[in-house]
Amino acid sequence: MNIQNQLQATVEALVQQGKGILAMDESSPTIAKRFKPIGVESTEENRRSYRSMLLATPGLGEFVSGVILFEETLGQKADDGTPLPALTAQQGIVPGIKVDKGKLALANAPGDEITEGLDGLALRLESYKQQGARFAKWRDVYHISATTPSRLAIEANAEVLARYASICQTLGIVPIVEPEVLIDGDHSIGRCAEVTEAVLHEVFHALHRYHVILEHMLLKPNMVIPGKTHAQKASPEEVAEQTIRVLRRTVPAAVPSINFLSGGLTPEEATANLNAMNCLAPQPWDLSFSYGRALQQPALQAWKGNAGNAASTQAALYLRAKLNGAARHGSYSVTMEPAQE
Ligand code: 13P
Repeated sequence: MNIQNQLQATVEALVQQGKGILAMDESSPTIAKRFKPIGVESTEENRRSYRSMLLATPGLGEFVSGVILFEETLGQKADDGTPLPALTAQQGIVPGIKVDKGKLALANAPGDEITEGLDGLALRLESYKQQGARFAKWRDVYHISATTPSRLAIEANAEVLARYASICQTLGIVPIVEPEVLIDGDHSIGRCAEVTEAVLHEVFHALHRYHVILEHMLLKPNMVIPGKTHAQKASPEEVAEQTIRVLRRTVPAAVPSINFLSGGLTPEEATANLNAMNCLAPQPWDLSFSYGRALQQPALQAWKGNAGNAASTQAALYLRAKLNGAARHGSYSVTMEPAQE
């Protein structure tokens, strides 16, 4: 298959009715943060056994079309010796890989950050592809404060995302472009809308400059929501209305799918918000999920580091995937949630 056909086939495998993406690509410091509350040490063996258990969830492929893996996971094996990318593919799920190298302070822009990882990216992508990865993810972050994000941060991060995406496409890897406006802060939903619009506008401007083929990428944005410590919460309907307005202003119709990150929303909030968006009039793109915490949190709680809890861990992941699959059609309702203990 030539490169264009490879990209098209991967997009078609990822963008399917009732399905979305599971992000399980936490970096080493982040997975340690997720394991800590359940009293699990982040050793290579614990990470392998947790992640291989998630990937082996019976029926996961009914609602999950793609999984984003961390570099370490790409080289790990299940208990029976199956390489984890092969186990993913056996489930009918496309394996992908996080390729950015994390973020650091952006010089001359106090409070802003920039994501690293472009040096040597093409070479790394070649080897990830040989290990089975067909798509990639790169995350940029934007902090909202009185002075951030600065114009410099918005422009510099857009440039880096576009360079990453263009390199991926040259090698037949579908890029997920993830500009995340963070939830931290006490800002209003209006301020989040304003920043998200400015960020997405600049990102698509840069993607155009770098000749990125919009039909062969996915966008992974934040939803438009009030800051975590803002006095008022927003209803799913308000989040949906504000998010769709910003996306319609900034994201070309050629982009096949928008797969949201959950960004610190609870699993229930993330599902309800996605559902509300899919209840609005049809949009030019699919609206789906690419959740990390909102899919994994109940599974982590069920697992607690005990292999004996595998069945309940997998059931918890399966349920969240199923409910988000329903939210893809706008047919989710809170009554589908399990009764609270
Ligand atoms: P969350 O859904 O937990 O925000 O994770 C998604 C992700 O991949 C962040 O890069």
